[in-house]
Amino acid sequence: MTDATSNQMWGGRFAAGPDAIMEAINASIGFDKRLAAQDIAGSRAHAAMLAATGIVKASDAEAMREGLLTVLSEIEGGDFAFSAALEDIHMNVEARLKEIVGPAAGRLHTARSRNDQVATDFRLWVRDQLDAADAGLTALIRALLVQAEAGADWVMPGFTHLQTAQPVTWGHHMMAYVEMFGRDRARVRDARARMNESPLGAAALAGTSFPIDRHMTAEALGFDRPCANSLDAVSDRDFALEFLSVASISAMHLSRFAEELVIWSSAQFRFVALSDRFSTGSSIMPQKKNPDAAELIRAKIGRIFGAQVALMTVMKGLPLAYSKDMQEDKEQVFDAADNWLLSLAAMEGMVGDMTANRDALEAAASSGFSTATDLADWLVRELDLPFREAHHVTGSLVALAEGRGCDLPDLTLADMQGVHGSITEGVFDVLGVRNSVASRTSYGGTAPERVREQIARWTDLLD
Ligand code: ARG
Repeated sequence: MTDATSNQMWGGRFAAGPDAIMEAINASIGFDKRLAAQDIAGSRAHAAMLAATGIVKASDAEAMREGLLTVLSEIEGGDFAFSAALEDIHMNVEARLKEIVGPAAGRLHTARSRNDQVATDFRLWVRDQLDAADAGLTALIRALLVQAEAGADWVMPGFTHLQTAQPVTWGHHMMAYVEMFGRDRARVRDARARMNESPLGAAALAGTSFPIDRHMTAEALGFDRPCANSLDAVSDRDFALEFLSVASISAMHLSRFAEELVIWSSAQFRFVALSDRFSTGSSIMPQKKNPDAAELIRAKIGRIFGAQVALMTVMKGLPLAYSKDMQEDKEQVFDAADNWLLSLAAMEGMVGDMTANRDALEAAASSGFSTATDLADWLVRELDLPFREAHHVTGSLVALAEGRGCDLPDLTLADMQGVHGSITEGVFDVLGVRNSVASRTSYGGTAPERVREQIARWTDLLD
């Protein structure tokens, strides 16, 4: 070291150390310490490979690998003095390793750069989050299946424009979210398969002249293969962007469901009661039970999607290969991952605990002329009216009922025949909401038998 104040990792050509402000803008240790376990796993794999290929002595590699475990236990035990002067997690770990094992530690960085190191660490970290999200989505789907099973034939209003449209079943509505979260899970798996390549050994950008074995380190770290292009390996963050994109779409689904829970749990709807465990009170209004978890889940999409936009903006326009801009990738992803996983867990908790109010659901389904389409379909089927005419006749009947302040089944046969003379008693069969949902047996439709088939398919798929 040329100067006591210059950086001990790269200060060879520097006469003076960095200004405090330089250090403040440059250091990432404040957040990338979250990569410690991945950094140490990567270094241990690298050390083993350096020995296997004869690049370093087996005894040195063994000392490094042991020492790295000590560093890991210090960090995990909260017993580690992180230093901003050492910039980031990579140099903090290496500096401490040197204190523990001596000069052999200096051989660890052979045939490697912080550029491939950070790319490797970050991929490993993101991969863990994808696995956690996979588990979180699976648990949420299971909770939804329990709700769907319990209420496969409970009738509720289906909405378009948040106006009563046609009756559907509670099970069908729950299963709609199973499909959405199921696709989120498939996206998680796709993203994982695509990102599971090892950047390690790409070195700074061009590869290395040492006879390294990148397949060996890739395998040791659970990657499917090494990245095929060293420039790409150190300079792209599309795996992080894909993570954020998958997270954003999933958070959007969570947000929509959360919005429904907010509406449904209101006194005006009373479709569901959220449990005490997943509600909060008001400090001034004693009667209140607020769906705060649902509201927060509804809001989390803001920061998750914000992270995606932020990182996309960081990455656009960067020339190959590594630029320090890319250090700005981590906090966005950390924050998005934390909040996505928390939202999944909170949603699973709410869904697992909530009670659907079967009577309120059915009462709401029976109001608002929800079976008007069934009536029109009946006119087509039984009286052979063209659908447009049937629509018109039904519209007149709705207007009649509305004028009387009653619902369609409350009209008399004489009322009906006043609008269209050929209507018979049989029409009343299709005006009940249960008959309405039972009749919608088309594939993917709301009939309880169809819903139960989908529940069975998903249950099989998860087992
Ligand atoms: N802390 C850096 C980052 O997060 C590590 C890579 C540094 N590489 C470099 N050439 N300065 O991106």
